[in-house]
This record gives sequence, structure tokens and C-alpha cells, in this order.
Amino acid sequence: MTIRYILACLVGLAFTSPAVAAEPIVIKFSHVVAPDAPKGKAATKFKQLVEAMGGGRVKVEVYPNSQLFKDTDELAALQRGDVEMIAPSISRLALIGATEFEVFDLPYLFGDYDSVHRVTEGEEGRRLLTGLEAKGIHGLAFWDNGFKVMSADRALHEPGDYRGLNMRVQPSEVIQAQMRALGALPQAMSFADAYKALKSGAVDGTENVPSNMYTQRMHEVQKHLTITGHGYLGYAVIMSKPFWDGLPPDMRSVLDQAMQRTTAYANEIAEEENFVALAKIRAAGTTEVYEPTSLERDALINALLPVHKEMADRIGAKTVEAVYQAAGFRQP
Ligand code: LMR
Repeated sequence: MTIRYILACLVGLAFTSPAVAAEPIVIKFSHVVAPDAPKGKAATKFKQLVEAMGGGRVKVEVYPNSQLFKDTDELAALQRGDVEMIAPSISRLALIGATEFEVFDLPYLFGDYDSVHRVTEGEEGRRLLTGLEAKGIHGLAFWDNGFKVMSADRALHEPGDYRGLNMRVQPSEVIQAQMRALGALPQAMSFADAYKALKSGAVDGTENVPSNMYTQRMHEVQKHLTITGHGYLGYAVIMSKPFWDGLPPDMRSVLDQAMQRTTAYANEIAEEENFVALAKIRAAGTTEVYEPTSLERDALINALLPVHKEMADRIGAKTVEAVYQAAGFRQP
């Protein structure tokens, strides 16, 4: 009996022995916000559910705060297979040519969370996620964050107050058009760089949801915040399609069930998290929080609604119409 034969038998035994547990499947889940922001909490919840339901066969490693990839890089990383799961803000999918997703950025499109859910949990939401398969992406769900506010180092009451301000935005063409409609100068940059740019004065202001502003301490470097509610921020929760396709079917079903429960959790906490974050911003005393009058709000709506028409071709008229229908939006 040669040494090589004995070694081969030992290796064979190791693979067949029930005492040797298989290595768990690892899902690296990268995101850009703080662990205690709504998306961060939902990511942790997903990890807990999957690991409990997967019976030790799967491990989810969550990387918050752009630790692994910035939002400018994470989609390409997913497509390369360098990360298995991400949850970019919905409109970031335009960065890989899925410009339809920018429909979610249209100003004053959604009146409330229910109107968002009629899209994200309805036929149009499913169609949008399925369309990503051709880009090597498996869409799992949409998660809410909330409705955005505007902030700057000057008071923002009327549309004219935005004129000439450098405003940090996500790279969405719709959001950039929205800032231009107000006479502001959109500066697209990653979320990871936003706080520094606000602090150094490289930009004068920004838009975001209160939970992101508070957890990134943006309120410490912004003197004024106006509760405009002019747009919605939510997430597309997505996985690498080759990774998904390679999973055993029973594991895909565990992930689907865990995702269903996580989505319910994410959408349940989002509104309250933003409410609490706004209260904490007020309490911090570094930022004057302003509630616009109804006249000021109407003036902002009038200034921003032309963006819908301007962006319809880029998004696709059929998508815009389908989302209007589902959301119950009517052009005034
Ligand atoms: C932003 O870049 O402002 C947000 O998309 C960050 C996030 O993921 O909530």
C-alpha cells in the first residue's frame, strides 16, 4: 500500500464522514449607512433571521458605513462577485443603466408610505426587480427609509433661498435636475464623503432623510433644516445573480422567508426612526428646524414639478405612467 494511496483514503474519509461539518455559506452584505440607521438595523435583522433559520449552514457578514465599498463602487463590486449582497438607494441602479429606477426620485411623487408600497410591493415593483436579472442581479425586496428634508448653512424658506447653493446629492439625474430647478448647483458625491464636504464648506447644503442626517452627524455642520418632504428615499435589496443561482433551493427559500420578515420589520421602523431622528436633531440645538407654511410648500411644489416632464424620457414614459397610477399621483 503506497503512502499516496493511504493519504487518498484519509481524504476520502474526511469528505464522507458525517462528523465533519461543511463550511457555512458566507454572504457578505455591504452597505453605506450607520448600523443604527433604518437600513443598518434591517441588515442586522436579516443576518439574525437567516442565521437562526439556516441551521448553521449560512453566515451573513454585515459591513456598514462604507467599510467594504462606497456607494459609488458597490454595484460594480456586486457585478464582479466581490460582494454577495448590497442595498443601494433605489435610484443608484441608474449607475448601471437601469434609469427607470430614478422614477422614485421624482419630487412630490409619493404622498405617504402607503403610496410608495403600492409601487414597491405591487406589479411595477416586481417588474423593476425582475428586469435586473439581465444585469446579473437578483432583486430581493425594496426597503423604506423615508421622506427627505433640505439643509444648508442658510435658512431655506422659499425656492429663491436655494439659488447659488452647492448642494450635495446622490448621482441621480432626477435629483440633480431637482436642484437645478431651484437654481442650486448639484454636487454628486458618495454618502461617505458627504459629512466631510459639509464640514469643510466644499458644499453648502444637502438633502437627505433625518435618520441619515442624524446618524452621520450632518446636523452638527448644518445651521438650517427645512422639513420639505420633497422626495422619497428607499432601497433596492439585491444579490449577485450567479451567487443566488448557485445556492441550494432550500437555502434560497430560507433567504426569501427571512427577507419577507426583514422587509416587514424595515418598513415598520422607518417612519418612527425618522421621527425620532428629527426630534434628536432639534434637541441637539445646532440646527434650526423649520416647518414651511402651506404657501411656502406650494411654491416649492410648483418649482419642482416641472422636473417630472423634464425627466420623463430618461426614465421612460411608460414607467412614469405606471408608477403614477399605482401611487395615485396626479399632476395638478
Ligand atoms: C445617500 O447617498 O444620500 C443615501 O443614499 C445613503 C443611503 O444609502 O441611505
